[in-house]
Amino acid sequence: MKRISVAQPCLAGNERKYVLDCIDSSWISSAGKYIGAFEEAFAQYCGTKHAVSANNGTTALHLALVALDLQPGDEVIIPTVTYIATANAVRYCGATPVLADVLPYTMNLDPADIEHRITPRTRGIIAVHLYGHPADMDAINAVAERHGLWVLEDAAEAHGAEVNGKKVGALGRCATFSFFGNKIVTTGEGGMITTDDDTLAARLRLFRGQGMDPVRRYWFPVIGYNYRMTNIQAAIGLAQMETIDQALSERDRLARWYDEALAPFDTQIVRPQSEPWARQVFWMYNIFLRAGNAVRRDAIISLLDAAGIETRPVFYPMHILPPYAQPAVFPVADLWAQRGINLPTHQALTQADVQRIADALGQALAA
Ligand SMILES: Cc1ncc(COP(=O)(O)O)c(C=O)c1O
Repeated sequence: MKRISVAQPCLAGNERKYVLDCIDSSWISSAGKYIGAFEEAFAQYCGTKHAVSANNGTTALHLALVALDLQPGDEVIIPTVTYIATANAVRYCGATPVLADVLPYTMNLDPADIEHRITPRTRGIIAVHLYGHPADMDAINAVAERHGLWVLEDAAEAHGAEVNGKKVGALGRCATFSFFGNKIVTTGEGGMITTDDDTLAARLRLFRGQGMDPVRRYWFPVIGYNYRMTNIQAAIGLAQMETIDQALSERDRLARWYDEALAPFDTQIVRPQSEPWARQVFWMYNIFLRAGNAVRRDAIISLLDAAGIETRPVFYPMHILPPYAQPAVFPVADLWAQRGINLPTHQALTQADVQRIADALGQALAA
């Protein structure tokens, strides 16, 4: 029986045509028409003045923090449940990620757990839109405003998500995205930073290109990085932006199929919940095992794997990973992260695949 992967890219539009154009025209490096076109399309989609491309989501995060002038000794508040790149980027600047607890269901940063972690060294907050459900940006921005902090959205997993009808990417001082192969919009490897702030955008472009002065060529006023995206990556990205609405609606349909097929197991699992103000996008369709099954999470993942279905555990919280380990207790993260499973979520899945996954899950829960 066919193996079902947890994620896979959909390259059914103009991706091939635009990549061949790069090769035929020999514009394969980090200059060329697709870079500007992709940045423009992305900014327009998010409703921001600027979009600055980068070579992956981690360098986009690092670049954003450099442009925000994050310094050694500074602190940044981040949710303990996230992908490790969020914390690492803070460390790359010599600053300290200060962990905060998350909310149940969405596992996004808990706005009520931020304020008491703010110190004179705190510079900002990174709000991660985990697995496609946006963080509570209104509440997070309100805390940040009270304390004069910036808010960076880590929107790596949430292209197209919205808060009260406004797209992620336009909800903080700046936002970063990933276009890794498993993301809703992919360029193979790639990243983007969006912002309305002209000065910040200029700094992002300066530091992205080794710090070369935009007017005086080969003059370097600062130490920068080579975090540039290639024209080939941007060519794929532009084609992906042409079909993003379709990608999101196909993922919505997939979520409805899952909801229907998994409803019989509602006494054993919790299905995705959405806040009333949120437009959730399904980067990953997550389930959480209810109390009785919680300790069997890894066994259930193995049983699904044996049935030819790849899944993933929800991210381990940062506070239990060796680089960021600390004795602190984060009650919600501790309770929820260990019960979570990412089910296969991509556009090639059929309703029959979803039924097969549901049947295998039912058997694993009963085992
Ligand atoms: C929340 C989050 N932040 C940052 C990243 C880093 O992106 P990339 O893998 O493109 O470096 C990812 C991606 O996987 C992510 O999920």
